[in-house]
Amino acid sequence: MQQNQMVCAYFSPCGTTKKVVCTIGEVWQMPTTQWDMTPLSAECTTIKLAQDDLLILGVPSFGGRVPEIAMQRIQQLQGNHTPAIAVVTYGNRAFDDTFAELQDGLQAQGFCVVAGIAAVTQHSIMPQFGNGRPNAADLKELQSFANQIKENMQTKEWKEISLPGNRPYLERHGGGLVPVTDITLCKGCGLCATHCPTGAIPKDAPQNTDAKKCVSCMGCISVCPSHARSLPAPMVVALTARLEKVCSERKENQLFL
Ligand SMILES: Cc1cc2nc3c(=O)[nH]c(=O)nc-3n(C[C@H](O)[C@H](O)[C@H](O)COP(=O)(O)O)c2cc1C
Ligand code: SF4
Ligand code: SF4
Repeated sequence: MQQNQMVCAYFSPCGTTKKVVCTIGEVWQMPTTQWDMTPLSAECTTIKLAQDDLLILGVPSFGGRVPEIAMQRIQQLQGNHTPAIAVVTYGNRAFDDTFAELQDGLQAQGFCVVAGIAAVTQHSIMPQFGNGRPNAADLKELQSFANQIKENMQTKEWKEISLPGNRPYLERHGGGLVPVTDITLCKGCGLCATHCPTGAIPKDAPQNTDAKKCVSCMGCISVCPSHARSLPAPMVVALTARLEKVCSERKENQLFL
């Protein structure tokens, strides 16, 4: 069946998931709507897709799960037996149960998951892991995956596949990684506050970030043009020591079809 229009949706605090989803979406060359599910303002959007549309949805793996806030925003998508491609980015450790959770979320909203792509990226907390990825070779590989999916959908009757992961999913853990502001560098532009998925940053006082609302997505660090936001160094040192062993060995992109 030919698809009429495509929605490329992504939860992407630090921008790599967006890059991966858009790179994959380009292969279809069809009318496309992009939906950035990241900022708090995305809460007001609902998107309906028909059976002859296509959804590409990308999320990063946080602790081997779909970020909780992204799971909430997925409920704003409504399919009608609509085919969907599930995309998970991860920072060179593992994606654990992220695909299983994403597939369950999409099914509940009326989508049929016809393919999955796991993309290795630079780790958004510790960029020394997966550094510089996705690189040019990764992007080429992701497009070749997309071409295989497209061909498959055009030549065969598409059907739901089963993506990897355990149920029940891994327990959620982590949190507490709350960025701080160097007020001597801050120019008061408000970009971090607009970008924050949970509204944890007061626009006029980023130094007063609400730790209870912060989901440790690192988005504010990535958008700050003045490099005024960062994690306290001892936190990064402790986390690096904990994850060095499991993040250092190179991981590969994967296609599930
Ligand atoms: C809170 C948090 C938890 C993360 N957990 C994992 C993980 O379990 N496994 C992994 O390989 N990468 C993990 N990462 C890295 C991200 O999945 C990866 O950098 C992703 O590409 C970020 O997407 P973005 O650039 O769209 O924000 C984590 C990052 C954050 C901020
Ligand atoms: S304050 Fe927390 S939740 Fe908000 S953008 Fe920064 S890291 Fe993400
Ligand atoms: S983005 Fe950076 S410079 Fe702008 S308000 Fe936030 S911390 Fe300050």
